[in-house]
Amino acid sequence: MELSSAVPCFLPFLVTLLLSPASAAPNRLVVPWDTTKFGPDGPWQAVRITLGGDDNRMALGSQNVSEVSVYPGGTYSSRVFTKAACDNYPNSLCGIGGTWDPDTDQLSRQRIQYRDDWIIEAAGLNASDTRHLALGLTIQGQTVWNATLATCDTGHITYPNGEIGGVPLGSLSLGAPEMNQTFTLNDEVEDNINAPLFAAQLFQDGYIPSYSYGLHIGSASFDYPGSLAFGGYNKGRVIEPVTSFRNESALKLLDIGMGVEYGASPFKFERREELLSTGVSDARAEPLAPYLSLPSKTCDNIASLLPVTYDPVLKYYLWDTDDQLYTKIVTSPAYLSFAFPSSRGDPDNVIIKVPFALLNLTLDHPISESPKQYFPCVPYEHGIILGRAFLQAAFLGRNWRSGTSWLAQAPGPGIAREGLGEQYANIPDDDTNIVGFEGDDLFNQSWAGHWSIVASQATNDETKPGGTNGAKPNDSDGTEPGSIEASDSISGGLSTAAKAGMGVGVAIGAIVLFGVLTWLWRRRSASGKTPDSQPVTYDYKYYHHSQQNESLRNGGAPVHELPEHISAEPIEIPDTSTPRVGL
Ligand SMILES: *[C@@H]1O[C@H](CO)[C@@H](O)[C@H](O)[C@H]1NC(C)=O
Ligand SMILES: *[C@@H]1O[C@H](CO)[C@@H](O)[C@H](O)[C@H]1NC(C)=O
Ligand SMILES: *[C@@H]1O[C@H](CO)[C@@H](O)[C@H](O)[C@H]1NC(C)=O
Ligand SMILES: *[C@@H]1O[C@H](CO)[C@@H](O)[C@H](O)[C@H]1NC(C)=O
Ligand SMILES: *[C@@H]1O[C@H](CO)[C@@H](O)[C@H](O)[C@H]1NC(C)=O
Ligand SMILES: *[C@@H]1O[C@H](CO)[C@@H](O)[C@H](O)[C@H]1NC(C)=O
Ligand SMILES: *[C@@H]1O[C@H](CO)[C@@H](O)[C@H](O)[C@H]1NC(C)=O
Ligand SMILES: *[C@@H]1O[C@H](CO)[C@@H](O)[C@H](O)[C@H]1NC(C)=O
Repeated sequence: MELSSAVPCFLPFLVTLLLSPASAAPNRLVVPWDTTKFGPDGPWQAVRITLGGDDNRMALGSQNVSEVSVYPGGTYSSRVFTKAACDNYPNSLCGIGGTWDPDTDQLSRQRIQYRDDWIIEAAGLNASDTRHLALGLTIQGQTVWNATLATCDTGHITYPNGEIGGVPLGSLSLGAPEMNQTFTLNDEVEDNINAPLFAAQLFQDGYIPSYSYGLHIGSASFDYPGSLAFGGYNKGRVIEPVTSFRNESALKLLDIGMGVEYGASPFKFERREELLSTGVSDARAEPLAPYLSLPSKTCDNIASLLPVTYDPVLKYYLWDTDDQLYTKIVTSPAYLSFAFPSSRGDPDNVIIKVPFALLNLTLDHPISESPKQYFPCVPYEHGIILGRAFLQAAFLGRNWRSGTSWLAQAPGPGIAREGLGEQYANIPDDDTNIVGFEGDDLFNQSWAGHWSIVASQATNDETKPGGTNGAKPNDSDGTEPGSIEASDSISGGLSTAAKAGMGVGVAIGAIVLFGVLTWLWRRRSASGKTPDSQPVTYDYKYYHHSQQNESLRNGGAPVHELPEHISAEPIEIPDTSTPRVGL
């Protein structure tokens, strides 16, 4: 107990001391998160950004600007909706993150005339005729003037059941393969307008050390804030091993399974594998998409093992909240696991576990008249999209200049709701590796106090939860006490949590200290550091689905549509050979 409180206290001092000599050197930019929770299929979290302004000689505050909450995700332009986009959706979640009407004066000075449609199929989003501009984008007091932005005057989301709603939030672009978005005016290359990507400009200006980002969206229902940095990442959100890949739309998903981290299984089995009906497939981790968009056969495979029912009208899998198994599953250490190939020659696959506690999400108006708990597997046949439901439990990052993406297990909330502790680190330019914390038990520990053990046998009664300290220590008692605890009971979360909390405190303290020392060491030996620039190699241990894989490719599913619809790259790289901007 002594150690756990003492270490974090003197740590900031230590870190400041170590950092101060290098304060002029480029440093990552940490993006702030809104505390509001967004629906109607969440709850989800979003970041805060400021839009507008075009005069770097004037204080930003004296220009017309607007602060909005947006989902981090997507490439090229950051996109925000105007007030008019919500005219058709009064009294709804439309524009709940804030809308932005660019100042008419600032607009009139815009030379870009390019418009396009913004479509994210897996999110049902369609914003047609969005206008591109180059205006100020400010995050944490850091402004990029003439940043590439887009405003949408119309837009809607068509939910799986056909219900249509306005768009709640826009997006903050995470970067692009290029530093600028180039708009052509005519055939003369000299006349092109270059609008920089936010992170690219900060990198160019020597403000951040690399053109990169590190993202973990956290969990709104566990009050676990997200983490986003440009030019760096929060190491406290990364548990080793990290897998890396180059093509963001070709993340190799090897399999989907189910298991339990500790204690007895709430299921009739300990582990299940081979739930991914297609075999090894390309997937995309997409923070702008909400669900686990998977082939319907895969959703069926998973759903058949859970107390969920596919509602033919709502077209979502709803949790059967009256089933005792439901409470047991979503409060226990049971998880859905996703297997990816290792990228460092390690024979073991990288397994990302998404606790079912994170998959107890809520549907609300306009999808459903009243709130309903749903399991976010949504049948989708145009490729595999692992959206926010998945990313609650995964760290995602990319270094645009080295063309490397990273995916890793993110920890649970931890005792302080900071994962393994807030520890931002820089991502060096051209880096192809990032380092997370290593430890077989870290994932389990980070969830301590937030889920309850399923007792293996009829053990002696545990003390009932008495406080409001933990995240949801009381949820396991949501149903009538006693009614579900006949044979194998769910223990009171808090007593376990309190005990575990101390252990984790000490462990995290030690980890943090170790992190600092490692960092110190790395700094000392920075000159001699040889970044591992090995090519990404995949090891398909355990999985041999080549036959099925072949049939996926040739099965007629329009796999090729995926990148077009999801990443706006093909649409948005206005190629100089095809003038798209008239003036
Ligand atoms: C923008 O600023 C000008 C003056 O600075 C003001 O007259 C105008 O009302 C503002 N527009 C908006 C939309 O706030
Ligand atoms: C998007 O919406 C526009 C207008 O509402 C419509 O014309 C267009 O076909 C839609 N696009 C897609 C891909 O649904
Ligand atoms: C923004 O772009 C305009 C037109 O390209 C240019 O005149 C202006 O100087 C730029 N502003 C800044 C702050 O770079
Ligand atoms: C981006 O555009 C600016 C302004 O036109 C230009 O100076 C810069 O070289 C471009 N950067 C890249 C990487 O193309
Ligand atoms: C990335 O992967 C997607 C999906 O497999 C594929 O369609 C696309 O061509 C790939 N892009 C590149 C640049 O290899
Ligand atoms: C499922 O989520 C809802 C909404 O966040 C919450 O009220 C409920 O307690 C959760 N169910 C369980 C069993 O934790
Ligand atoms: C996981 O954590 C719990 C405390 O939350 C602890 O009781 C259990 O022993 C741990 N299991 C493993 C396998 O480390
Ligand atoms: C659980 O929480 C509810 C509401 O906060 C409270 O009324 C109830 O007494 C709690 N149950 C236990 C066992 O602490």
